[in-house]
Amino acid sequence: MPQLVKPDARYQTSFLEAVREAQADGSGLPDTMGFDVPAIAADFPTFLSSLRRYEPGNELPEGFVNSEYLWLVEGDTYLGRVSIRHTLNERLREFGGHIGYEIRPTARRRGHATLALRLALARAHDLGIERALVTCDVENIGSRAVIEANGGELEGEFTVPDHDRPLRRYWVPTA
Ligand SMILES: CC(C)(COP(=O)(O)OP(=O)(O)OC[C@H]1O[C@@H](n2cnc3c(N)ncnc32)[C@H](O)[C@@H]1OP(=O)(O)O)[C@@H](O)C(=O)NCCC(=O)NCCS
Repeated sequence: MPQLVKPDARYQTSFLEAVREAQADGSGLPDTMGFDVPAIAADFPTFLSSLRRYEPGNELPEGFVNSEYLWLVEGDTYLGRVSIRHTLNERLREFGGHIGYEIRPTARRRGHATLALRLALARAHDLGIERALVTCDVENIGSRAVIEANGGELEGEFTVPDHDRPLRRYWVPTA
């Protein structure tokens, strides 16, 4: 059964394969698409530290909130990841929300995102979030299904500055 774990060197090989997959088919989230695979492979501990840079206890850049990355893994295999924002700012309230997720291309259509969001909601509940805001593009049918399978209630469809496609905002109970 896949589980959410803190990013760890144990998954390095599989994680880097997954990033290459997403970059090859162009379907990853923007940060994944921008990862410099050779540089990350050359110094994985520094990369892992960079993933922890917005966790509580670190000084945050202006306009940032505390957040954390968790990886969905099974055995030594990296399947995908979630990001959990501990609070919302004005921008995240419009677009981005509390939780984002991505599943590697070769592991899609097997229920992993539905599970990853369910596990992320449990973590959000532990962080004191009672209803999580989750947003997705209107045309992202897969993500809509994932949110609705987790009990998401639609707030509406919106267009926001600096995002060229209409999006949906859902509120999802974490309990
Ligand atoms: C969207 C994404 C997370 C879905 O991951 P996944 O692991 O394939 O999702 P699941 O297997 O849990 O699928 C859940 C439901 O969505 C449906 N679904 C998933 N991808 C779909 C697609 N591309 N088109 C239509 N339906 C899709 C599944 O069939 C399933 O529906 P079901 O209840 O009828 O079986 C994945 O495609 C992805 O990582 N995309 C790129 C990043 C991204 O869009 N992240 C979300 C940002 S809001």
